[in-house]
Amino acid sequence: MFQLQEKWEARATVRSRPYISFDTNGAGYFYPISRQPIAVHPKILEKGDDALKYLLIQSLYKYSNDISSIETRIVNTTILKVISGQLDLEFSDEQKLNLYTIMVDEAYHAYVAYDSLLQIEKETGVKPLPLPKTIEIERAIRIVKEKLPIKYHDIFELICVCLAENTLTKEIVTMTDKDETHPFFQKIIKDHLSDETRHSGVFFHLLGHIWSKVDIDCKRNIGLVLVEFLDTYLGVSVQKEFDKQILIELNFSDLDADLILNDVYAGFSLTRNHPMLMNILNLLEKSGMMDEYISPSFKTRGWIL
Ligand SMILES: [Fe+2]
Ligand SMILES: [Fe+2]
Repeated sequence: MFQLQEKWEARATVRSRPYISFDTNGAGYFYPISRQPIAVHPKILEKGDDALKYLLIQSLYKYSNDISSIETRIVNTTILKVISGQLDLEFSDEQKLNLYTIMVDEAYHAYVAYDSLLQIEKETGVKPLPLPKTIEIERAIRIVKEKLPIKYHDIFELICVCLAENTLTKEIVTMTDKDETHPFFQKIIKDHLSDETRHSGVFFHLLGHIWSKVDIDCKRNIGLVLVEFLDTYLGVSVQKEFDKQILIELNFSDLDADLILNDVYAGFSLTRNHPMLMNILNLLEKSGMMDEYISPSFKTRGWIL
């Protein structure tokens, strides 16, 4: 057995963990307050705890929908292309087998996410608001592909997945061990993190492999669009649209909802101190990607010196 395969057989959550069912004895919010910036806005606090609970339940629904979307439509769709030999790149048996294990994990994570949404809906009686049809990364990939020659689309998507899988892991870390969240949420997050830590290593190595194999023209073309990809991917437009729906549902006027969103997000700018961007810059550096093809646009954008 390969090294990672052995670990996966022993520790993957889909192989080793029991079903997580809602624990009625537990208490807490269904989503971390620190991950929902409008939760601490004075106008929300004025509305009282029920409004806060509602906001965090809807935030959980969106998060679950985001996870199901990224795992199936982004990560697994891309892995499928690699293991079925659709990319113009060689991958070893070990690399492919590692990707098979990840594909199983991600399908399971999507299942857990959707199931948790249904369990919370049943428990609270709160129906999900219309959930976004897309996620930031999907929007970012679509926009950037319009500017990239078709022959580089699949490689570019795979690079995006390598970056996203490392970003997702960091994001999950910020959601664990929040005392205010319900044990049900904490268990799901902990399970997901234990798998994603393994994935981030695989995708980090894959990133270096891809960049060592693609030709100069490919690197040059990807170097022209990577900044725009990151700007959209790490942006908050889908989040804001959904948050607005929640605010309207909480009986805020259209004007008040916009004011709240403006208070919370107006200061948002993607500088090199943004934690997720810092993580990605570090990843690009360590995997040998921050070369003469990638670095110029990052310098222009002010993300590297
Ligand atoms: Fe996952
Ligand atoms: Fe993953």
